[in-house]
Amino acid sequence: MGGGAEVTLDSTQEQALIDAAFAAARGAYAPYSDYPVGAALLFDDGAVVTGCNVENASYGLSLCAETVAVAKAFEAGRRGGLAAVAVVGLKADKEPITPCGRCRQVLNEVAALGDTDPLVLCVSAESVRRVTLSALLPHAFGPAHLG
Ligand code: THU
Repeated sequence: MGGGAEVTLDSTQEQALIDAAFAAARGAYAPYSDYPVGAALLFDDGAVVTGCNVENASYGLSLCAETVAVAKAFEAGRRGGLAAVAVVGLKADKEPITPCGRCRQVLNEVAALGDTDPLVLCVSAESVRRVTLSALLPHAFGPAHLG
């Protein structure tokens, strides 16, 4: 498994995915960090699945936006076909937000199932950083390791 061809989105597709992530972020439940995050997953059939961070009074139980989006995608029956991901933080002004380490691993599960290497759009108010998931998580541990 080495991932499929590199994904590129035109500016309209890219903006639509980012807009979906911003819409999701507006649903965030982040009263403790006051750092709302949204994620949008684009699948190769054009479907978009979104998520927001969901915090908890027991702080360590909080769920990241990307993890919520991946859980929703699995629940909807998705097992691969992940083409691109947008991650936005409503408080990310200068430096684009990047998926945390745990979310990189969670995203890798759905990517690995379909042997894709999704484009990850890391977004701030000022810029978009475009990286592949494999660049964010080199030598990832995945389902193939378990045989
Ligand atoms: N957060 C995400 O939702 N995704 C990430 O990749 C980074 C962090 C959330 C977790 C927490 O609710 C808030 O951002 C501050 O860490």
